[in-house]
Amino acid sequence: MLQQSRQLGNSTVRVSPVIFGAWAIGGWMWGGADEQTSIDAIKASIDSGINTIDTAAIYGMGYSEQLVGKAIKAYAREKIVIATKCGMRWDDPRQEGCDPWPQKDTTGRDVIIRKNAKPASIAYECEQSLKRLGTDYIDLYQIHWPDTTTPADESFAAMEKLRQSGKVRAIGVSNYDVAWMELARSAGQLASLQPPYSLLTRDIESDILPYCRAHNIGVIVYSPLERGLLTGNVTPDRRFPEGDHRSTHKFFTAENRKRVLAALGRIQPIADAHQASLAQVVINWTIQEPGITAALVGARNPQQAKHNAAALGFKLSADQRAEIRRVFEALILT
Ligand SMILES: NC(=O)c1ccc[n+]([C@@H]2O[C@H](COP(=O)([O-])OP(=O)(O)OC[C@H]3O[C@@H](n4cnc5c(N)ncnc54)[C@H](OP(=O)(O)O)[C@@H]3O)[C@@H](O)[C@H]2O)c1
Repeated sequence: MLQQSRQLGNSTVRVSPVIFGAWAIGGWMWGGADEQTSIDAIKASIDSGINTIDTAAIYGMGYSEQLVGKAIKAYAREKIVIATKCGMRWDDPRQEGCDPWPQKDTTGRDVIIRKNAKPASIAYECEQSLKRLGTDYIDLYQIHWPDTTTPADESFAAMEKLRQSGKVRAIGVSNYDVAWMELARSAGQLASLQPPYSLLTRDIESDILPYCRAHNIGVIVYSPLERGLLTGNVTPDRRFPEGDHRSTHKFFTAENRKRVLAALGRIQPIADAHQASLAQVVINWTIQEPGITAALVGARNPQQAKHNAAALGFKLSADQRAEIRRVFEALILT
């Protein structure tokens, strides 16, 4: 049964194989979002059996977490698994960290985003996230990106303190490579990694996935639909609204869209055989990959949320999975 929840690494947290990804509903980098539609999308996902929601402080600069907090009020807290992230600060011009990135916040104010995983910042951020989410514990707390100005073991020791205090049930990292995970693991219990992974982005297969499997680290992968490109809905003439990062993303050139659509056309017979959509086949393929605990799938409205949850309702055969892999291994995007 693909619908069954899965244990996250060596932690006590169990996640649904499809996790609701709450980045796009924060609006920032996705050309905005409608509040009620976003809340309804989260609820539709939960009502369809998806018990886990992934957000981050930086998504909509606090807004996505607030929306998640509003949506889950309707449910018993222990029925929902909340994953959020710290380590990208926008809210204090005096803060330290690396990779300064000038952006506008949701009110149009100029801010500088920095990767900051200093212990004091992590402790501060956790309190802010708990308030926005309207809860007194976070099921999975993750460091969003490596902060090269702070040793990984120091950051991780701060996360471990939160775990021991009960504010956090399990600790994860995101966008870490093997060396960073090694250091983190020397300072506490690493339950999961959140890396990018899709039929178009399979880099983790060479070293990161084997490392996580060897050390029982859960792997919850992001952008499995490659930000919508693998649904078949991104035709060469589709225009993205202002502020939607996909308008300048390298995979979304007109030529690449055509190539991806051609590849999707080759796997259409497999989708037809299961009376499924291409998006559902791609999600199903992803969560059946060995070593993948769950796929974080973004949805912007209740229809997409329900549709993505239904990707767990069938099982691709080994031959179909191999054929899908062959098609995308032969695809080269420029
Ligand atoms: N840790 C990190 O650094 C990191 C980075 C990226 C993402 N993430 C996490 O991973 C989650 C998912 O990644 P993602 O949002 O980047 O990409 P994704 O899940 O690959 O794609 C989501 C987008 O695809 C489109 N879509 C979704 N379901 C669809 C359906 N059934 N039919 C047609 N189109 C559909 C929607 O956009 P349109 O309708 O507008 O086309 C949606 O916003 C995020 O929400 C976030 O939680 C983490």
